[in-house]
Amino acid sequence: FTSTVRKVLVRLRGSYSLVFMCKFEPDKIICSKKDNPLIVGLGQGENYIASDIPAILSYTRKTYIMNDGEIAIVMKDNVWVTDLEGKPISKKVFEVNWDAEAAEKGGFEHFMLKEIYEQPKAIKDTMSCRITKDGKHVHFEELNWTPEDVKSIGKILITACGTAYHAGLLAKYFIEKLARIPVEVDIASEYRYRDPLTDSKTLCIVISQSGETIDTLAALKEAKRRGARSLAVTNVVGSSISREADQVAYTWAGPEIAVASTKAYTTQLVTLLLLSLYMGRLNGNLPVDREEKILADLTKLPDQCQAIFDQVDFIKGLCSAFKDKEDVFFIGRSMDYGLAMEGALKLKEISYIHAESYAGGELKHGTLSLIEAGVPVIALATQLEVEEKMISNIKEVKARDAYVVGVVQDGDTEVGKTVDDLIKVPASDDFVVPILAIIPLQLLAYYIAVSRGNDVDKPRNLAKSVTVE
Ligand code: M6R
Repeated sequence: FTSTVRKVLVRLRGSYSLVFMCKFEPDKIICSKKDNPLIVGLGQGENYIASDIPAILSYTRKTYIMNDGEIAIVMKDNVWVTDLEGKPISKKVFEVNWDAEAAEKGGFEHFMLKEIYEQPKAIKDTMSCRITKDGKHVHFEELNWTPEDVKSIGKILITACGTAYHAGLLAKYFIEKLARIPVEVDIASEYRYRDPLTDSKTLCIVISQSGETIDTLAALKEAKRRGARSLAVTNVVGSSISREADQVAYTWAGPEIAVASTKAYTTQLVTLLLLSLYMGRLNGNLPVDREEKILADLTKLPDQCQAIFDQVDFIKGLCSAFKDKEDVFFIGRSMDYGLAMEGALKLKEISYIHAESYAGGELKHGTLSLIEAGVPVIALATQLEVEEKMISNIKEVKARDAYVVGVVQDGDTEVGKTVDDLIKVPASDDFVVPILAIIPLQLLAYYIAVSRGNDVDKPRNLAKSVTVE
């Protein structure tokens, strides 16, 4: 059985995680992988094979994380790992330190809702280990960069998929404004095929909750092949991406089970904002008082989430205006544009309502023709720098009788005069407020999807980890 499996594996092409069984040796399971995730859970008198840690969390914390080119021969009492030629490999046991409850709904109707409510803790866990005790500076012990390390970066390339890509879009604003380093952001599946201008002066940042998205992993390999230094922002310790990147900055969100990403996204934003402050200070582009001010606001964020949770009944009440619509538009400028993209993705993936995001200034270049009476428009207007322009955009859609829900910083007096309904998020620094402002959009998407009777945690046609191209 084992030698047949070896013979088969050397002839296979593509990416896979495979499990083999043989009717003549029923007490043995053999598994192997290439580019796709595979773990072996080590129990007492029982062992497990899975693609993801949460699947085995309630049975064991001890795992082998399988690498390409390895074969695990799994029996009830023993696990042997060899290479493709049968040479034994001595594997290190990887102990998972997640809480078992993290893989349970804990009284919530869906994982997504639980994960939305876990954001204050996830954000706190992600930032507190990276802010000095006096609250004035950022430090990334795991990176330990020198000023020269940052000054030698010619360009930053951010590549990711889906929600993680949207976090990357906001990171472009963070890094360019705070550290003054040019940033390009690319969808991982596009980056690979465009013959990119990546070299040894490029820092490639890949963002991935799972650390297993195949396109992101491939983009990372491609950037490295072209000479780039690499940094992964990921949530899963020991994931393929964390092992492939030169350095890793983990988001400490805990396991995210729902397909729709929520707490992973906000912790990615927190990590990327901290990273921008870190780079800005190291390369001398960020004034000390600016760092202190942003950090002061960032540390208030976990408590401020409560102010949004307090509006949940109001947000639920808005659902009836969306529930039976076919199209919803999200508009925003500057960082709110990135936020609009994430808000639209959240809505479409779980409610199955067509949702589009547009930069406010782009409306009159085509999209405005789609706006007619009653079409819902979510107008994100949290960025004070561009508020006036955003108000003009809101007036453009109101003039066509759209139904407009504004999202603003608390205390705003202007936007409320032009919209039909208003969601207020606690006032904060312009860099911090998008992290808060996504939460009502997550809640809105969630309750709309519930009201349509959808399977929120497992939306149709989607998977949590996209390990196929
Ligand atoms: O695990 P990753 O962060 O690499 O996943 C990337 C996307 O597949 C993921 O963010 C997807 O877009 C989410 N389902 C969106 O909620």
